[in-house]
Amino acid sequence: MPTLVVLGTQWGDEGKGKVVDYLAKKADYIVRYQGGNNAGHTLIYENKPFVLHLIPSGILFPKKNCLIGNGVVIDPKALKEEVTFLNKKKIAVKGRFFISEQAHVILPYHKLIDEILERGNVKIGTTKRGIGPCYSDKVKRIGVRVVDYLEKDVFLNLLDKNLTEKALILKDSGVDIEDLKKEILKDHNELSKFIKPFVTDTSLMIENAIKKNKKLLFESAQGTLLDLDFGTYPYVTSSNPIAGGVCPGVGLGPTEVDNVLGVVKAYTTRVGEGPFTVELFDEMGDFLREKGGEYGATTGRPRRCGWFDAVVVRHSVRVSGIKHLILTKLDCMEGIDIIKVCVAYRYKSKVYKDFPASRTVQKYAKPVYEEMAGFKCKVKGVTDFKKLPLNAQKYVKRLEQLVGAPIDLISLGRKREETIEVTKNTKWF
Ligand code: IMO
Ligand code: MG
Repeated sequence: MPTLVVLGTQWGDEGKGKVVDYLAKKADYIVRYQGGNNAGHTLIYENKPFVLHLIPSGILFPKKNCLIGNGVVIDPKALKEEVTFLNKKKIAVKGRFFISEQAHVILPYHKLIDEILERGNVKIGTTKRGIGPCYSDKVKRIGVRVVDYLEKDVFLNLLDKNLTEKALILKDSGVDIEDLKKEILKDHNELSKFIKPFVTDTSLMIENAIKKNKKLLFESAQGTLLDLDFGTYPYVTSSNPIAGGVCPGVGLGPTEVDNVLGVVKAYTTRVGEGPFTVELFDEMGDFLREKGGEYGATTGRPRRCGWFDAVVVRHSVRVSGIKHLILTKLDCMEGIDIIKVCVAYRYKSKVYKDFPASRTVQKYAKPVYEEMAGFKCKVKGVTDFKKLPLNAQKYVKRLEQLVGAPIDLISLGRKREETIEVTKNTKWF
């Protein structure tokens, strides 16, 4: 089983960074397949937390190959900053970090348009990194791919076309198009030289790696409820974080995907606008935010917090064919008297066990809660499932039942060793 997809099962921020870092030691290749620098994956390196937005989390292991697939949108400036940051930490990336020539490029006008749209009447609460506008151009067939960015004539032509197409919205917001063009061209000279050594056909690299029976880990950003098709549309990101996204995102056939692993937080959080049935506005919400350090790794925004939503995670397990789950941040629930778990939604007189597509139901449904006794004693530091407080064990078992997939690993902190292998020696790959 050489290929494994790891994805978030809620609204992102499930702790994918730590999980990928934990599994990366067993992989040969770590590949991102969608999203861009809207992601924020927090890792611990030399005892200090550190956030990666674009480069796969496996980069901290010296010999691993890290790839960015064609489904990712790349801001060359952000990429340069991240590579420079890693180099300063003496983490070399040359020769083992590659980006797809077919990935689309985020340009300054994408970021400007993201900001302008956020000031309009459909506020999504985006990260303002230009993600949505860049994917829109890809779908409109006027986008700039990495390979286009490197061919100067092609790039100049596309730049003119794009600036003409976007002139109205930019001028309306007081942007000087000529100045913007000068800035883009100045950056282009420097950034195209910078990214060139990393650019390749990553899809071919992946095919060759599979032929050699190498182990490949596909790392998703965001989460199922931010998926363009299966999330809380339109309050979503503009790509497909679900497992199926890996196929168009790296150029891999579905028959080559061997295993799918979901990362799930012991409670729920969301950043940005949009429906959030289990949201807590009381001191319990504040408790989870403070205990879990729930502040955005990319934008610093406080995250909205709520109880575990089994309707959401069951939906995730289904649409991605998740075979295993990793539960994170169980330690952040220490000390709660009564824990609630959302098992269904109620809207008017109807009960919803499956995640509803209707915007009205998503917005106005009330959670149907089940209550469980909490756990008072410390779970942090425990490395054996049987040594967890009984109520913590019961909580984990109940979640498994409700969402329909086994929890094989539990994370109780950011460090690699703060992990319980519930199922010993699970063969992930
Ligand atoms: P990681 O990988 C949490 C959210 C934004 C916003 C919506 C659309 O760290 O889990 P976008 O900038 O993508 O157009 O914003 O998606 N969002 C995330 N929320 N974690 C993330 O990534 C996110 N990436 C985007 O807050 O609601
Ligand atoms: Mg995040």
